[in-house]
Amino acid sequence: MNKYKILKGKLTQYHQEHLLSFFHQLKPGEQEKLLEQIEGIDLQEMEVASRQFTSHRIQQQAKITPIDYESMPHLSKTRRKKLEECGLERIKAGKVAVLLLAGGQGTRLGHDGPKGTVSLGDSSDQSLFALQAKRLRAVEEKAGAKIPWYIMTSPSNDDETKAFFTKNDYFQCDPKQIYFFQQELIPTITSAGKMILESQSEISMAPNGNGGLFSSMKSSGVWDDLQEKEIDWVFLNNIDNALVQVADPLFIGFAEESGAEISSKAVRKRSPDEKVGLLCLANGRPSVVEYSELDAKEVIDQMLINANMGIHLFHITFLEKAINSSLPYHFAHKVIPLIDEYGQHVQVNSPNGYKLEKFYFDVFPLAEKMSVLQVEREKEFAPVKQKTGEDSLESARKRLFKNTKA
Ligand code: UD1
Repeated sequence: MNKYKILKGKLTQYHQEHLLSFFHQLKPGEQEKLLEQIEGIDLQEMEVASRQFTSHRIQQQAKITPIDYESMPHLSKTRRKKLEECGLERIKAGKVAVLLLAGGQGTRLGHDGPKGTVSLGDSSDQSLFALQAKRLRAVEEKAGAKIPWYIMTSPSNDDETKAFFTKNDYFQCDPKQIYFFQQELIPTITSAGKMILESQSEISMAPNGNGGLFSSMKSSGVWDDLQEKEIDWVFLNNIDNALVQVADPLFIGFAEESGAEISSKAVRKRSPDEKVGLLCLANGRPSVVEYSELDAKEVIDQMLINANMGIHLFHITFLEKAINSSLPYHFAHKVIPLIDEYGQHVQVNSPNGYKLEKFYFDVFPLAEKMSVLQVEREKEFAPVKQKTGEDSLESARKRLFKNTKA
């Protein structure tokens, strides 16, 4: 039986045979490409995702309660010094690695390219990647040791990211300490759970969310590398925070001292409707509840004040559980370019389909404990989410400039 027949049979079994509607009108090269794309899709996983989509609205809500935290300004000078020394010692012993989530694009900023290439100044030495590399090097110098830097890209930005690093001489880091690995793409779906054809020969795909991290760590060899290097702590951070203190030794000391499997930095939530996730307990387990899934009233009722900055330390024991678990999907309603039943491109102006995304923090309940350090927003949190206004390129520039001067 030829490949076409086998795949047609499989697609029919999963009610997705429309993907081959235009197959006989395609050129041989396009036919081969489409069949390859279909072969690469885990149809069973897509079925599970579609089922989650139809059932997620009736899912039971967990009981959300606040989580204990310590506040940076309340730590005594002696304690800060002790924590920082402990963190530096861990780095020197080669027990710490950094993992950067950089799979997203800079589209919301009107920037054509990976978000890390967005510059806060006029040159690439003030790009988000450069700022993080500079801070990493400063900690390495203080500790007297190198820190492995794992950078997660996606198939949509991997080439450009690597080219940016090469062009900028790895921002004076040692190229041997940097490991790029890619998250996966997953098909987009309609509200009926059907995969979408972007053209007659191509299925619409999107990155599978930052929770794709764990399976990609395993498949790319990052997990094996961490074990070989006998790393104890992985410092994880988002690409878009212009003030992130990469591999902050004090925070590492804080995590080590707390004995928790996860430590998270937080800032006090600015207002009930600020678009941030909230660190909390869900049915008594460590969690982050995302802004899109919690209403403002519940935030006030529960006094949830610790906003997720996307800065965490994961102990290796937690990571082992995380990479062996499966995460649920979240469904983002988006504008998705597609064709109609005649194979013609359709003009789409409002959301018409769903991107399937995993969130890395959905595995947090597997941790026995999460410790939280609340830090000062002005010093450590300037996320670049849009071009102008709050949490923008403009506001991050101002904050960065103020902090550099101080
Ligand atoms: C994220 C957090 C939110 C937190 C806020 C702080 C998630 C799901 N939500 O929200 O709780 O309060 O940051 O700024 O993390 N990324 C990938 N691959 C993807 C999608 C995203 O690597 O497929 C990366 C981005 O490059 C970024 C990070 O994940 O570094 C967060 O993604 P972003 O889209 O900025 O999340 P927010 O909605 O702002």
